[in-house]
Amino acid sequence: MTSARRSGAALKRFAPVDIDFPDMLLEGLSSEPKRIASKYFYDEAGAKLFQQICDLPEYYLTRTELSLLRRYAGEFARLIGPDAEIVEFGAGSHEKIGVLLSSLERPRTYVPVEISGESLVGLVDRIRADHPQVDVRPLLADFTAPLPPTIFSPGVRRAGFFPGSTIGNFMRDEARDFLAGAARLLKGGGLLIGVDLVKDPALLHAAYNDSAGVTAAFNYNLLVRANREAGANFDLARFAHYAPYNVEQHRIEMYLVSRAAQLVRVCGRKVAFAEGEPIHTEWSYKYTVEDFRALASQAGFIPREVWCDPDQLFSIHWLEA
Ligand SMILES: C[S@@+](CC[C@H](N)C(=O)[O-])C[C@H]1O[C@@H](n2cnc3c(N)ncnc32)[C@H](O)[C@@H]1O
Repeated sequence: MTSARRSGAALKRFAPVDIDFPDMLLEGLSSEPKRIASKYFYDEAGAKLFQQICDLPEYYLTRTELSLLRRYAGEFARLIGPDAEIVEFGAGSHEKIGVLLSSLERPRTYVPVEISGESLVGLVDRIRADHPQVDVRPLLADFTAPLPPTIFSPGVRRAGFFPGSTIGNFMRDEARDFLAGAARLLKGGGLLIGVDLVKDPALLHAAYNDSAGVTAAFNYNLLVRANREAGANFDLARFAHYAPYNVEQHRIEMYLVSRAAQLVRVCGRKVAFAEGEPIHTEWSYKYTVEDFRALASQAGFIPREVWCDPDQLFSIHWLEA
């Protein structure tokens, strides 16, 4: 199947996401400092590039979290309990939820909430094939916006699943607000959430500056998307991928930096860049276990069990709602 047909199929099967990329792009590039929100990374090409990032030797996050999920699957199943409804935020791929669903006792419904239609199609097909007993109810949506209550089953124990340390893409205040909303949705159940840990800055730097240049391509893809969807004329060669680790703030900061003073057309307007001027594209906050538990408490969860790998690279938390 060609990608265009697959996109068409995605839109037919799922309601379109209510986002207006060109308007948001122009707004972000007119602000000071310039920015593009990280949720716009995940068009079809961006979702594929992210899957490639997950397999990179430098990107320890995915393989470490997967090994924790496999190792402690029995404990997660006991905490979540039988006949549960699972809500996954930013589902992406089938691999991690596949491990969780296989360990659960009679999982009842699975609601993947995902902004990328392409990712959602692949995920839903795979989960329906592998777990035919589970009622899969996909939601193509921005998980920072209110979710339609009718998609959830009333009176059922509900558990959230939020892997990949996607919570790190929120600033601290935003993370607390998101968690507070999740705590309300999951009341009576809990949230299983993967959180990347503060560690040696060299390891963190390597994870977002891989030698094969895949993370750079993922970052540049925002400009490719702008050229395609917002009538922009970005010359990729005139921007640099820049992803330093800010030790004080405990976060990777991702930017596209203008290599020269230049004017770029975006949505029929001219946007001026100074030499060295950055466009901010992503935060990736890292937490200590204690710090994340404190944040979860502020959001209204009761932090319970935490699992870490022996090298203390990554953590999974069970937060009771
Ligand atoms: C860092 S990736 C993690 C993917 C996967 N959960 C994992 O653990 O590898 C973030 C995922 O969240 C999705 N996403 C990002 N922002 C989103 C938003 N605002 N609403 C819904 N999904 C979002 C992306 O499309 C992507 O699949």
